[in-house]
Amino acid sequence: MLTTELIDHILATIPSRTVGVLGDLFLDRYLDIDPALNEPSVETGLTAYQVTRVRSYPGAAGTVINNLAALGVGRIYPIACIGDDGEGYELRQALRALPAVEQGGIIQAPQRRTPTYTKPMLGKDELNRLDIKNRTPTPDAIQDQIVSLLYGSWPHLDALLVLDQVSEADCGVITVKVREHLAKLAEGDRTKFVLADSREQIGYFRNVCVKPNSKECLAAVWIKPPKKFTKDDEAFAPFELARLVGGAVFYTNGAKGITYLPRPGADGALLAREVPAYPVSGPIDICGAGDSCSAGIASAVVSGATHEQAAAFGNLVASITIQQIGVTGTATPAQVRARWRAVSASGAA
Ligand SMILES: Nc1ncnc2c1ncn2[C@@H]1O[C@H](COP(=O)(O)OP(=O)(O)OP(=O)(O)O)[C@@H](O)[C@H]1O
Ligand SMILES: [Mg+2]
Repeated sequence: MLTTELIDHILATIPSRTVGVLGDLFLDRYLDIDPALNEPSVETGLTAYQVTRVRSYPGAAGTVINNLAALGVGRIYPIACIGDDGEGYELRQALRALPAVEQGGIIQAPQRRTPTYTKPMLGKDELNRLDIKNRTPTPDAIQDQIVSLLYGSWPHLDALLVLDQVSEADCGVITVKVREHLAKLAEGDRTKFVLADSREQIGYFRNVCVKPNSKECLAAVWIKPPKKFTKDDEAFAPFELARLVGGAVFYTNGAKGITYLPRPGADGALLAREVPAYPVSGPIDICGAGDSCSAGIASAVVSGATHEQAAAFGNLVASITIQQIGVTGTATPAQVRARWRAVSASGAA
């Protein structure tokens, strides 16, 4: 499905492409604590941990952005909402390290917080994570701003990746209203590649391509899920999701790779294609696998590849990032080429 020529073509094309990323932009903040410096707190008597380094990275939709940037996409346009707070400042600072990212579509709203995962690292051990989230619905005025940014940028985007990270309904960027406008835009312009990913709401998107993992896909197509899903249920779910959404499905299934289903035609007939993962040896860390896969898929599509070729390229990119342990990985063009050479030499291509 992939060839050296196609991979070279994708990597040579993406520097002239623009990809939008609509969704929840998080700050991933690591606090490195040196236990040798522990001090007792005079006030409480508890141990005061001493942070010797703060590492801040764009997370959630930011992971997709990191991956697009590492692959070499020329222009990345996030549409998101962050707070007017210190975390938001750090997030913007981290994004500034990625020259391809244009920050004009990032709304800074004083009434919202910047969603943040803070991970205190006591030596090698991760202590309890501290999460900052918005637990109230996104105000209407902000939703309108998001919709207006979406319409304004639409004609200039070669593709749009949608990442709905927030589980609390309507409390993030992808609200019912935003989804409805997205469906309308996508219906009017079927040539624009839009790929949506959502932990809880993948079944509510319309007219776009979707990228569920197996759990998300099963949950999306049953109103009352059975206690235990059968093999038949699992096989049926992506077909049902394709019909529900009215778009192509990239069903990711860990080490098995991707089952691809095209957008259902008028006759409703659908043929699934298996696009196998590229096997990896040694330890793996699947954190961010899905996001790197999405970035790979979009990069291939904006370069003119078919959806199946794009799924294979997504698998190739994810096979690189899952080998990066303890970090949310990314893949550079050099890593993609090296991985492809290794895969070809091993006969797994
Ligand atoms: N063990 C593995 N070996 C090879 N490739 C893998 C493996 N696990 C995951 N992948 C690659 O990563 C892609 C996404 O994996 P998965 O289905 O686990 O996504 P996900 O659940 O969305 O991940 P995330 O936790 O990042 O949200 C797969 O389609 C495949 O290409
Ligand atoms: Mg995922």
